[in-house]
Amino acid sequence: MNTLFTADPVRAATFVTDGKLVVFPTETVYGLGAHAFDEKAVEQVYQAKKRPTSNPLIVHIGTLTDVLHIAREVAPLAKLLMNAFFPGPLTLILPRHPSLPGIVSGGLDTVAVRMPALPLAIKFLNAACIPVVAPSANLSGCPSATTWQSAAEDLNHRVHCILCGPPSTLGLESTVVDCTSELPMLLRPGAISEEQLRTVIPEFSTTPPDEFRSPGMRYNHYAPNAKIRLIENPNDVHPNNSSGYIGLLPPPLISQFKMCRVLADKNDYSHSLFEFFRDCDRSGIKTIYCQKVDQAGIGRALMDRLIRAAKSTK
Ligand code: TXA
Ligand code: MG
Repeated sequence: MNTLFTADPVRAATFVTDGKLVVFPTETVYGLGAHAFDEKAVEQVYQAKKRPTSNPLIVHIGTLTDVLHIAREVAPLAKLLMNAFFPGPLTLILPRHPSLPGIVSGGLDTVAVRMPALPLAIKFLNAACIPVVAPSANLSGCPSATTWQSAAEDLNHRVHCILCGPPSTLGLESTVVDCTSELPMLLRPGAISEEQLRTVIPEFSTTPPDEFRSPGMRYNHYAPNAKIRLIENPNDVHPNNSSGYIGLLPPPLISQFKMCRVLADKNDYSHSLFEFFRDCDRSGIKTIYCQKVDQAGIGRALMDRLIRAAKSTK
């Protein structure tokens, strides 16, 4: 199929309303969007990114009241989280509305809901006038795309339209919180930190999520072709012209790496990680050394992505 590239959110929205696939920007990562109530379109999303249909999708809304069309109910604690963090990089798991096709949620009776903060994403969603399912706009298992060019690298000719917006400012996916039981449960650490969540909801379930509540845990994630080596100390590296380095402290013999990124803080590290992985693959790097970070704030999500990338095999 031919892919149309546009910077016009209203033009892109006509595709999605028509049951076609549209890549669009958000503040976390780019999304691969389709009409949430069109089963055929949702099926195509799984096919386009080669994703197992048992790994459910997030439904994106442009207006807070749209949540009522996709969720059967919104519990008081979910309302508190929505008031505090929507629009923004938070996804809530709620009971699924009976009229929303089951394929959206991989057959679960719950649904994931997020309202992105990026104004271009909101313009696109509100012009589409429908809730839009959107997993990250990458081939399943690969690093998420934080630029439209990276999304196009994976999905050109597999989607009908790419809405070309700015690079994602955050660079890591949304935090996922399950609000369907008495105590909320953190299913995926993300751009909203646990500390931020605790300012609104002090108590979280301490049971670690299992793969039934959090199907995403079953699959490989975020992996470039290169092997990822996590290191505590930048001295633990073997630089050569097929290795790369990313971290907060400069490694010794920095000029011997083929590619090297030293970031000012954890936010910059998060913002740069996936694009650095992709740059390393573009230049044929075989090993990427990634410096570990502490778990405070965004550190938890960053370490989660680093550990999963290091575990994943291609
Ligand atoms: O920042 C983000 O969340 C990006 C942008 C595009 O919004 N989207 C994203 O989607 O990261 P995806 O599909 O790559 O990750 C969604 C995660 C998966 O781990 C999936 O298993 C989980 O959310 N998820 C979706 N629906 C769920 C549900 N009903 N119950 C539990 N987990 C769910
Ligand atoms: Mg993803």
